[in-house]
Amino acid sequence: MSLPELIARPRRLRRSATLRRMVRETSLSANDLIYPVFVDENLQAPVAVQSMPGVLRIPLSRVADMACEVYALGIPSIILFGIPASKDAVGSEAWNDDGVVQQAVRLAKTAMPDLCVIADACFCEYTEHGHCGILEGEDVANDETLINLQKEVVSYARAGVDIIAPSGMMDGMIAAIREALDCAGFQHVPIMSYAVKYASAYYGPFRDAADSTPSFGNRASYQMDCGNQREAVREALLDLEQGADFLMVKPALAYMDIIKIVKEISDVPLAVYNVSGEYAMVKAAAANGWIDEQRVVMETMLSFKRAGADLIVTYHALDVARWLKNEVSL
Ligand code: PBG
Ligand code: ZN
Repeated sequence: MSLPELIARPRRLRRSATLRRMVRETSLSANDLIYPVFVDENLQAPVAVQSMPGVLRIPLSRVADMACEVYALGIPSIILFGIPASKDAVGSEAWNDDGVVQQAVRLAKTAMPDLCVIADACFCEYTEHGHCGILEGEDVANDETLINLQKEVVSYARAGVDIIAPSGMMDGMIAAIREALDCAGFQHVPIMSYAVKYASAYYGPFRDAADSTPSFGNRASYQMDCGNQREAVREALLDLEQGADFLMVKPALAYMDIIKIVKEISDVPLAVYNVSGEYAMVKAAAANGWIDEQRVVMETMLSFKRAGADLIVTYHALDVARWLKNEVSL
């Protein structure tokens, strides 16, 4: 029996590591990374987050060091989450000019002025009930929450934040934030919108880290349903119309189709959030020796880029930057 004559032999381009390097379509660099940092106003020393091995909640006194460590690794940016010393029904610490995020922003920018400091803007870390806004009965009241969001972001801007990243999935949040920032003289502060954020079980470990688990119910009346793809386009277009400077898709790993589609229909930089549950799964499997952590993480990062991500928010950022420095081959 003779084999048919082959017309195409794609394996020709896979014969050596050098050839493979030459024809790789996608690349990953430390410039693509954003590192999430949890700052807890109640702490004197760092505390490990149980469900996220390698991640710490840090006290304000460690923010400057953290900013320097991140920037020294070549990572341009951090995103801050704050755990305040006191919570109330509406989350009023969010617009306290001396609140935990405002202090952290000032500390990070003073220590490392070139570091791009992003602040997540929401209320779930600030409210006693853990929901992302003001409650009206058991539901989050959209428009009342927007008014508080305007106060929160102006206060963050006064502290010197570089980018505002609203994550609460309130309707009209981008327009409300843009107007508030512009009126207060912060026309230059960009908005990175968590435009396409699903109600996801993958946020579980984060809620331990940020102390933001809802005390009742869930976030399904404001975050998106995981069965929907066309709605992602609608959310993205709405936020672009309202002036979003970046879009974000979250979670990332189970939502690669969404990343690809949002990239196709938008013309601003696209961030993806490689969330806490995705991180925890990799760490758990690696701790058991079931996967090669470095190779799995690098493959995952490159896959986000391939799907269309310009920026990746990830708890793996410090490790990835170190591995990139050592020029490990992916
Ligand atoms: C706050 C917020 C959440 C995350 C980022 N910002 C939690 C949530 O919506 O419940 C999740 C990040 C992660 O899981 O790593 N709204
Ligand atoms: Zn929230």
